[in-house]
Amino acid sequence: MFVTQSSFSAGVCFSLVCLVVAHAVTFEVKEGNTTCIIAELDANFTIAYNTTNGTNSAVFMLPASAAVGTGSTCGGSGVPPELAVSFGDGHTLSLEFSSDNRVYSVANLSVQYNLSDSSTFPQSTSTGLVSVTTNAPGMSARLNSTYRCLSAAAVSLGGAGVTVTFSDVRMEAYMLGANLSIDESVCSADQKATTVAPTQTPRTTPAPVPTGDPERGSYNVTNSNGTVCLLATMGLQLNITHLSKSQNKTVSELMNLQPNRATVTGSCGVTVTTLTLTEDQTNLSFTFTMNSTTQKFHLSAVNVSADWPDMTAPFSTANSSLEYFQGSVGRSYMCSSKQMLAVTSTFSINTFRLQLQPFNVTGNQFAAAEECRVDQENMLIPIIVGAALAGLVLIVLIAYLIGRKRTHAGYQTI
Ligand SMILES: *[C@@H]1O[C@H](CO)[C@@H](O)[C@H](O)[C@H]1NC(C)=O
Ligand SMILES: *[C@@H]1O[C@H](CO)[C@@H](O)[C@H](O)[C@H]1NC(C)=O
Ligand SMILES: *[C@@H]1O[C@H](CO)[C@@H](O)[C@H](O)[C@H]1NC(C)=O
Ligand SMILES: *[C@@H]1O[C@H](CO)[C@@H](O)[C@H](O)[C@H]1NC(C)=O
Ligand SMILES: *[C@@H]1O[C@H](CO)[C@@H](O)[C@H](O)[C@H]1NC(C)=O
Ligand SMILES: *[C@@H]1O[C@H](CO)[C@@H](O)[C@H](O)[C@H]1NC(C)=O
Ligand SMILES: *[C@@H]1O[C@H](CO)[C@@H](O)[C@H](O)[C@H]1NC(C)=O
Ligand SMILES: *[C@@H]1O[C@H](CO)[C@@H](O)[C@H](O)[C@H]1NC(C)=O
Ligand SMILES: *[C@@H]1O[C@H](CO)[C@@H](O)[C@H](O)[C@H]1NC(C)=O
Ligand SMILES: *[C@@H]1O[C@H](CO)[C@@H](O)[C@H](O)[C@H]1NC(C)=O
Ligand SMILES: *[C@@H]1O[C@H](CO)[C@@H](O)[C@H](O)[C@H]1NC(C)=O
Repeated sequence: MFVTQSSFSAGVCFSLVCLVVAHAVTFEVKEGNTTCIIAELDANFTIAYNTTNGTNSAVFMLPASAAVGTGSTCGGSGVPPELAVSFGDGHTLSLEFSSDNRVYSVANLSVQYNLSDSSTFPQSTSTGLVSVTTNAPGMSARLNSTYRCLSAAAVSLGGAGVTVTFSDVRMEAYMLGANLSIDESVCSADQKATTVAPTQTPRTTPAPVPTGDPERGSYNVTNSNGTVCLLATMGLQLNITHLSKSQNKTVSELMNLQPNRATVTGSCGVTVTTLTLTEDQTNLSFTFTMNSTTQKFHLSAVNVSADWPDMTAPFSTANSSLEYFQGSVGRSYMCSSKQMLAVTSTFSINTFRLQLQPFNVTGNQFAAAEECRVDQENMLIPIIVGAALAGLVLIVLIAYLIGRKRTHAGYQTI
């Protein structure tokens, strides 16, 4: 009796969702009788490709005919669980999961598209399959809960060429039962949407927990052949806006990264390098991109995930269209002043006494530094003040000399 009732209410709930969510497609990965992944999602693709006339953009939605493809697996013995969705003429969207004992997340998101499909990519100069992938697209949830993100969230893959915008997402991996868990881990974008709307009374912002300036740490990435390929020295403070468990409202919480507790990983490519810092339940990743034409680099993407004690749900967010820390290849970038990097509306990073070099590091040390604008302006202030003082002294001196000459002239007439 109880079982029938609960499955009935789940059915109503499910059809309600289906009513609200017109396009979301449902996928299920099973092994034998065991369901390990269920994903209900809507995805919009924007893919840049070359035509004889220049670059074109293909924009399309995940069709309702999309189906669970052959790459899908429940994982085990070193193989991560994966949902591979096949659609159209050989296109694939894959989500590879990973977990620790509290949280699971999408570790790799990849898209494989078929440029030979001329209805999707008309007049493409290239043909064949192209694969792009990104690490940590910023989707994570507590184990035994459903990841829910109804808000649209864009993920960039392979530089800026491919963007997948997810919406109406409900999914779960490492499942215990055959249905999505009722307990939900709500993404931060949804929390903002639901917590901000009903509160009419002005909220008093809590006094921020006093946090001093962060300690400065050295975070270096080493190549497979043992040479240092990325150098970074800086103090880092994370500022996450989340729904507080203790206060039941949205708060901005600060966390200083502690150099001796953070583990550093990363990778160095020819035009893309990454630096990932992990401290307990906090994972912060920087992607630097080099433009080989202009020989300039910049911080192009930041991914963060965190599960702090006062958070109602694990937090994760990312932005892959950043333009911070612009410098020249072969030089280092320096900013001694505090800088605030806005990543998304719910996440920012404060950097202190920063110097970094993501490309062409030679001999384990920084090359000549290019200073950030704030530093240059800060150096300008003493110069301007000095110049103003010198000017003042000069004026006083001239006034004095003129005054003296006048008095002298006065004596002569008498
Ligand atoms: C799947 O379920 C059926 C019916 O409940 C059962 O007979 C079968 O042994 C199960 N298979 C596995 C691999 O568990
Ligand atoms: C278009 O062609 C240029 C030059 O061959 C290449 O650098 C670029 O990556 C191509 N863009 C795409 C989206 O394939
Ligand atoms: C390319 O240019 C030709 C001639 O200007 C035009 O007919 C064609 O539609 C263009 N194709 C695209 C994809 O813009
Ligand atoms: C790619 O598209 C072409 C043309 O539609 C098709 O013949 C080919 O089989 C597709 N490739 C794959 C791997 O599906
Ligand atoms: C998930 O559920 C399983 C089985 O009930 C339990 O062993 C495990 O500790 C749970 N994990 C979390 C993070 O709640
Ligand atoms: C993600 O993909 C990269 C490269 O494609 C691979 O080296 C890595 O093992 C993958 N990560 C996981 C968790 O599967
Ligand atoms: C290490 O590898 C990088 C590229 O992977 C290369 O540029 C560098 O010269 C190598 N260094 C040594 C000492 O082999
Ligand atoms: C943290 O972020 C919030 C929201 O963006 C902002 O109001 C606050 O000033 C930030 N605090 C610090 C110390 O950067
Ligand atoms: C949190 O606040 C909302 C509205 O302010 C309220 O509806 C809800 O019951 C509160 N939750 C808890 C656990 O106090
Ligand atoms: C490199 O910079 C040039 C000039 O700003 C720009 O036109 C080009 O698109 C950039 N290339 C890449 C790969 O971003
Ligand atoms: C990503 O950063 C860019 C540049 O700062 C900003 O315009 C954009 O709104 C950010 N995207 C998100 C999702 O916050």
